[in-house]
Formats: sequence, structure tokens, C-alpha cells
Amino acid sequence: MQRALTLAVEGWGQVAPNPMVGAVLLRDGEVIGEGFHERYGGPHAEIVALGRAGDAQGATCVVTLEPCAHHGKTRPCTDALIAAKVNRVLMAVRDPTPEAGGGAAVLRENGIAVETGTCREEAASLNAAFLWNARRSDRPFVALKLATSLDCFITDGSGHSQWISGADARDFVQWLRAGFGAIGVGARTALHDDPELTVRGTVTPRVAPRRVIFAGSTVLPPTLRVVTTATRTPTSIVCERDVAQRISADPAYEHVQFVTADTLLGALRALRRDGVTSLLIEGGGVLAAALLEEDLVDRMYWIQSPRWLGQGTPAFPDGRSAIPLAEADPWAVTDRRSLGVDTLLTVDRDLCLPAS
Ligand SMILES: NC(=O)c1ccc[n+]([C@@H]2O[C@H](COP(=O)([O-])OP(=O)(O)OC[C@H]3O[C@@H](n4cnc5c(N)ncnc54)[C@H](OP(=O)(O)O)[C@@H]3O)[C@@H](O)[C@H]2O)c1
Repeated sequence: MQRALTLAVEGWGQVAPNPMVGAVLLRDGEVIGEGFHERYGGPHAEIVALGRAGDAQGATCVVTLEPCAHHGKTRPCTDALIAAKVNRVLMAVRDPTPEAGGGAAVLRENGIAVETGTCREEAASLNAAFLWNARRSDRPFVALKLATSLDCFITDGSGHSQWISGADARDFVQWLRAGFGAIGVGARTALHDDPELTVRGTVTPRVAPRRVIFAGSTVLPPTLRVVTTATRTPTSIVCERDVAQRISADPAYEHVQFVTADTLLGALRALRRDGVTSLLIEGGGVLAAALLEEDLVDRMYWIQSPRWLGQGTPAFPDGRSAIPLAEADPWAVTDRRSLGVDTLLTVDRDLCLPAS
């Protein structure tokens, strides 16, 4: 299953909003075929693995998600597994979608032994955005990425944030961007850093993520890179109604989509209606704290740099509600690793585990 999970990740940036899936076929302890879902609308992992194996009679199929039982863009994987006469299917998590789920029952009805649950948490974490959207479709899956100093600042005392984290962490963030439908920042980050918010890493996403600036009452100048490059990369400005009324008719913003809503949740809902299923927020602290305060963050990528800054822009400014320790349930730790000298901690608010 670990091998199947590793294969599944190869679909990062290519298959969303569909899930990443990896599959390995084994017979007599030998791998006879393996594969992953490589591109949106393309063959599923099981089909690729069966194709590589040629003859899979009597084999065990180890797969990270329940094989689909429906005619979607491709034929049901259950049909292919039954036709190939595999003996056993070992899957990590069920597919909770009404359209594609139910594969385990179909396999069992056809005499194939099915076991569920191996590496269940890892598989759920891998497809967190997919599972989130299967459960709730009213707003996107929201991940927050912040790079902080040891003392939890996101800039130094004079406002510089480039670069708190090192080259490995920055490569990771480029990789991360490729897997999200949209990338968001707050007004002050847009003004201060003038970021491009495009993907410039090793993975080129199937669809370039939309840039979303949470501008509030701020009038973003048309000279900002996200505005001047809006013809190339879709860009939304989420702002107060009077700001949108004032500037949206200006030809300089012609290619920018304006989103107005009274609350952050309202803005997220508007983005979801517009097709954004996952959103990576890259700061700054004021926007991050507002999202956390309203319980609108589903995952946090915290990159901690081993530097002490003493002063700076706080990652989470004061003014938040107090939560007694006894009520502060821990988030699920889904990844913890080194990125050069920096440390990445990934935590999920709710793993959205489908019933096993
Ligand atoms: N180290 C890192 O990972 C990292 C990442 C990003 C940024 N940064 C740095 O952080 C600094 C900016 O961070 P920041 O915390 O000062 O500001 P920020 O979070 O980037 O922007 C805050 C502004 O966003 C607007 N906003 C829109 N909707 C909002 C909402 N619902 N709740 C709260 N604010 C909302 C508000 O503008 P109005 O007041 O006009 O309404 C608010 O003042 C920059 O210097 C940047 O370089 C560091």
C-alpha cells in the first residue's frame, strides 16, 4: 500500500478535482503490474496496472481508493478487475461519492475477497480535498500555508519576508501550488510583495490555479502583477461592494473577476459556485487569523524556519477568541518532515474519513 500511495502522488496537479489513486498488482509476493491515475479523464490506476500486468488471474490488487463501479469518463474498474479474474482487492479507503462508490460490494458479489482500511489515514490525507468536496460542496477545501520564524513571525521587524524559509521549502511551495484550484493572499501581502502567484516548479498543473486576492476595503492598484497578468492567469479580487463598484468598470481591471460578499464564508461560497474546489491561502497573518477564527481552515502547512527574529509581522495577530485547553482538540498530524533546515508540519482539522 505504501508503494500504491507513492504512485498516487504522481497524479498531483493532473487529476483534480478527481482523486489521486495508485494501484499495485501482486501474485505470489511478486509485483506483476502497477500504475496510477495520470490525468483527469484518463484511465484509472487499476486499469493501468492491469494493462502492465497482462495476465492478472489470481492476483491481489492493492489500491488506495475503492475501485469505481460506474460508467464515468472511463468504464467501471470493477468490470475490469472481475474480467481479469483477480482473487482479492485490498483498498485503503472507500469512495464516498454516490456516483463512483459501491465498488467493494460489486466485487464481493462476484466472488472477489475485499479488505478495507490499510493505511486509511494516509490515503484520506492524500485526497483530503476530494474527500472534503464529497462531503460538503458549499465551499472549497481551504489549506493555509505559512512560513514563520521560531518566534512565529512571518516577516522581520522591517517587513521583509524574503526569505524566511530556505530554497527547499520554496520548491515545496511551488509543488504545493500545482495541486490547488486557487491560491489566495491578503491585501497587505499583495501590496507589499506584489506576488505573481503562479506555479513555477517541477509540476505543471493541468489547469493553472486561479489567483484570489482578499482585498477587503483596499483598492489594489492596477499595476500589481496579479492585475497586469490577469489575461494569462485567472484572477479574482474579493472586496467590499463599494470598492468593486468604484474600480470594476476601469479597463485596467477588465480581466479581473470581482467577488463581493459580506463574510469570508460568503466569499468562499462564491468561489465554490465558480468552480474552485480547493484553495491554498499563503498569508499574511491577518487573513490567516481571520480564517482560523471562523473555523474555515481545513489543513495547515506550517513551515518553521530555525531563526529568531525578535520582532516582525505576527503569524497570528492578537484579538482572537480564547479556547480553553480542554476544548482545544488537537488537529491530526498528517506529515512532519525536514525541508532543508526548515521543518514542515502538516495538520488536518478533520480527515473526512469515509466509513470503512
Ligand atoms: N512568511 C510568510 O509565509 C508570509 C506569507 C504571506 C505574507 N507574508 C508577509 O506578511 C505581510 C502581510 O501580512 P499581514 O498579516 O500584514 O496582512 P495580510 O493578511 O496579507 O492582509 C491583511 C488585509 O487583508 C484584507 N482582508 C480581506 N478580507 C479580510 C478578512 N476577512 N479578514 C481580515 N482581513 C481581510 C484586509 O484589508 P482591509 O484592511 O483593507 O480590509 C486586511 O487588512 C507582508 O509583509 C508579507 O510579506 C509572509
